[in-house]
Amino acid sequence: MTAQNLSDPVAFYDLRPENENFADAMRAGLSRYPKSLPCKFFYDQRGSKLFDQICALDEYYVTRTETALLISNAAEIASHLGRDCHLIEFGSGSSIKVGILLTALRGQVSYTAIDISKDHLRASTDALAQKNPDLLVTAVCADYTKPIDLPSEIVKQDGAPVVFFPGSSIGNFTAGPALEFLAQTADLLRPRNGGLLIGADLKKDEDILRAAYNDSRGITAAFNLNLLVRANAELGANFDISAFHHDAIYNASLGRIEMYLVSDRQQSVKIGSSSYSFAEGEAIHTENSHKYGVEQFQAMASAVGFEPVKVWIDEENLFSVHFLRVI
Ligand code: AVI
Repeated sequence: MTAQNLSDPVAFYDLRPENENFADAMRAGLSRYPKSLPCKFFYDQRGSKLFDQICALDEYYVTRTETALLISNAAEIASHLGRDCHLIEFGSGSSIKVGILLTALRGQVSYTAIDISKDHLRASTDALAQKNPDLLVTAVCADYTKPIDLPSEIVKQDGAPVVFFPGSSIGNFTAGPALEFLAQTADLLRPRNGGLLIGADLKKDEDILRAAYNDSRGITAAFNLNLLVRANAELGANFDISAFHHDAIYNASLGRIEMYLVSDRQQSVKIGSSSYSFAEGEAIHTENSHKYGVEQFQAMASAVGFEPVKVWIDEENLFSVHFLRVI
């Protein structure tokens, strides 16, 4: 763990997340049947920019709906979070949504941002600290998809802890890992009677879902295909990007969007000395994005020790923001 530089307004802890090797994941993922790759490899520099563009798309209702819910309910959310709270955000990215909460929160608020992308984390927490000179800001470089041993200074920090996990990133976990993540969060919060403020995308008309993940400008396609662009650039692979296309389907029985990269023809691709063959129409499964009913989500959280306190839903029933307290 790296100690804080005292001239820096942000305490920075580098837990040195073991960067799972893209090459190993690629080799393993293309060797199994059906082929699949972990979605966390979407977020290199180009992928993160493409994701920001997705968030601004008309069809991708997720970001604007959650943002509007946070803005219009900020005062009520703040009253549930209480005075002097300690916000802990998993996957903090640009730390934009937390700014909405900060306008409504009262007392000595502190904020811990946890993200795997070190440079981005440093830049966004520095900017937040500059904009909010009274806010105590801590940054932790760590992979929140794995159990994190948070430094004791953070765990014991004054103020009731509230984990903030917006964006429906919980939807990118399958059922087992989603429960594990919630259980791990409950364990972190239990000693201080903390709470969880979490965004969860709702089940809805399948046409709306399909449009959100197959946008007309092809940004989601570029985001998905970027995995192959990355493999060519970083691993010396020879994917013909034009011979694959993006597809996103709604799997109603599992309640989730599934994204695929589909081979347009029979072909073989080399990564180093290994080659991988694709039949025409064969797909690489690249992401799941689960959609939840309100009761379904509350039942899942209750199973690992949370008590639902309040849920905010927009008028079109697109998105939910839950506040849950650990018991
Ligand atoms: C980050 N995550 C919540 C997004 C989602 O909606 O599952 C990722 C995404 N994939 C395609 N579009 C957006």
